Amino acid sequence: MSNPSIDNLMHEERRFPPTKTFSQNAIATAGLYEEAKADRLAFWAKTSRELLHWHKPFTQTLDWSNPPFARWFADGELNVAYNCLDRHVLDGNGDRIAIHWEGEPGDSRSISYAELTAEVKQAANLLTGLGIVAGDTVAIYLPNVPEAAVAMLAVARIGAIHSVVFGGFSAESLRSRIDDAGAKLVITADGGWRKGKVSALKPVVDEALALEKDFPHSVRNVLVLRRGENDVDWVDGRDLWWHEQLEGVSFEHEAVAFEAEHPLFLLYTSGTTGKPKGILHSSGGYLTQVAFTHKNVFDLHPETDVYWCTADVGWITGHSYSIYGPLANGATSVIYEGTPDSPHPGRWWEIIQKYGVSLFYTAPTAIRSFMKLGREIPDAFDLSSIRVLGSVGEPINPEAWIWYRDVIGAGTAPIVDTWWQTETGAMMVAALPGVTILKPGSAQVPLPGISIDVLDEAGHPVPPGGGGFLVVTEPWPAMLRGIWGDPERFVDTYWSKFADVPGGPKYFAGDGARLDEDKDIWLLGRVDDVMNVSGHRLSTAEIESALVSHPIVAEAAVVGAADETTGQAIVAFVILRADQADKHTPVEASALLRAHVAGEIGAIARPKRVVVVAELPKTRSGKIMRRLLQDVAEGRAIGDTTTLSDASVMQLISDGLTPPAS
Ligand code: PRX
Repeated sequence: MSNPSIDNLMHEERRFPPTKTFSQNAIATAGLYEEAKADRLAFWAKTSRELLHWHKPFTQTLDWSNPPFARWFADGELNVAYNCLDRHVLDGNGDRIAIHWEGEPGDSRSISYAELTAEVKQAANLLTGLGIVAGDTVAIYLPNVPEAAVAMLAVARIGAIHSVVFGGFSAESLRSRIDDAGAKLVITADGGWRKGKVSALKPVVDEALALEKDFPHSVRNVLVLRRGENDVDWVDGRDLWWHEQLEGVSFEHEAVAFEAEHPLFLLYTSGTTGKPKGILHSSGGYLTQVAFTHKNVFDLHPETDVYWCTADVGWITGHSYSIYGPLANGATSVIYEGTPDSPHPGRWWEIIQKYGVSLFYTAPTAIRSFMKLGREIPDAFDLSSIRVLGSVGEPINPEAWIWYRDVIGAGTAPIVDTWWQTETGAMMVAALPGVTILKPGSAQVPLPGISIDVLDEAGHPVPPGGGGFLVVTEPWPAMLRGIWGDPERFVDTYWSKFADVPGGPKYFAGDGARLDEDKDIWLLGRVDDVMNVSGHRLSTAEIESALVSHPIVAEAAVVGAADETTGQAIVAFVILRADQADKHTPVEASALLRAHVAGEIGAIARPKRVVVVAELPKTRSGKIMRRLLQDVAEGRAIGDTTTLSDASVMQLISDGLTPPAS
């Protein structure tokens, strides 16, 4: 796995040790590594007991008798919402702000732990009143508003399972997720604010539930939050206003404990096939690891810090680091509804200034787009409260890293580059800001208690300087417990590539990585057919299947092409049906198909370019050679074509390129 750009990166010589003052006051010390190394399971048991309240203490830490199905803290019982709420109030911190919420139009709300606890208790009573019981699934399709946190925590409080669907997904994407999870209730809003206007949500839910005439969906009610004030249609008997339903509902609710392995949530993510996977997370192990990593990686001092994770609650980062991690730790967090540039390009920095944000967590794509706009925009705001900066979702290139530190972090804030996935539930590879000497571009080291390796194709660990596949070699508390309804796919996807290696099966993450001479980890991106666009995962197969569902398309192949801002950009190559080819110019077809994919999956999946071609490069056995299409999409010389069934195809494709769509 040679990769010249990574070889260059690995020669990055800049090093940033923590300052003495930072280290002296740091929450995490080097002792954590020693402790975890001496006895990993004892370390996690102690961490869990320290960070969480167990209604019934556990006596077993890990049951790995049936790999890859792990059970953590299995004989213990806890309530996740109680851990995020009630106990902070009982500890005397009820007046501390849990959430500073900033709406896009400029409205805002600061909600204390006491208030949030009361709201969640009331919502829990409402859910019970609607017939939701432990083990039921509830779909949540909301903007980034405090009620999303209230809904998630209320569902968790009564032992039901939430499945949050990002508000940018289409009706079809929502329908398939509701269907797969068998959701009984959908919690949505009329609409939410994005880019200066209301983006409707309720009509998408209506469409999802009506998509197939006889679709025997499981949804009994749709609970609708009023946010956008946009007009909505109403299905009597099914649709209920959130504010009306809450009237008169009690604020008293006693949290009962559930087993540590009780399911907490499903979150759908793209895999290598067209069908998204419902990643299943459970309670005790998940909460332990999100709390531990949030506290130690961000150096959280909950009494004084103000923390902001910019991710939408619809993604795993929003789940683990906007909701569960910060609330479990009694932190004060900011939640922002809208886009970074509404109504002006300095909105994020204005929010940091307004709330005195000290710990800030975002994605490299955002950092790169701010870099392009120029430092005058952030420089106009007081960002002096910033202490720690985090990065997530994709590799951060050293230029963006340095800009982030210099411009947002005043040249002093440590940057923690955190590698993890929807499946891992919580951070796995990241620096500890008071301990690690930082290297721009590298996620660096496994967290204490986490065992990571880089293996070659044969399953042997690569030596320093080598590259291969990133694996997790030991079970970890927040690991996914499976794929909803599909245990076989769980085993095949993650555990079959390195099933027969010494020490038992290894979790294959789907990422390539290299180790440098210090054994620091450099992520190389996905090695499968999964793209990473702006830190979001999309599968080539999913987009291809959306493309071929359009009547003018005969065949489609999708690749992720390197993109300066978004990491990768979606480029689609399509062959039109013979009877359609003369009816549409390539430019028209491209516009039509880009809109079609956005409608089928959601705007995040809209290809940057759709290139109409006469042929696709295929091997003699008929497999599309994406590698060659990637060469074309990235404007490189086309690689080895010897296995192509017809080598002239590549010339035809290069000749047929249309100019990029805007
Ligand atoms: O390829 C890796 C990349 O994002 C993938 C996980 O995507 P998702 O499940 O959507 O979760 C994103 C937020 C945790 C990984 O397989 N990735 C995530 N973080 C990093 C990263 N690549 C490089 N460096 C990171 N810090």
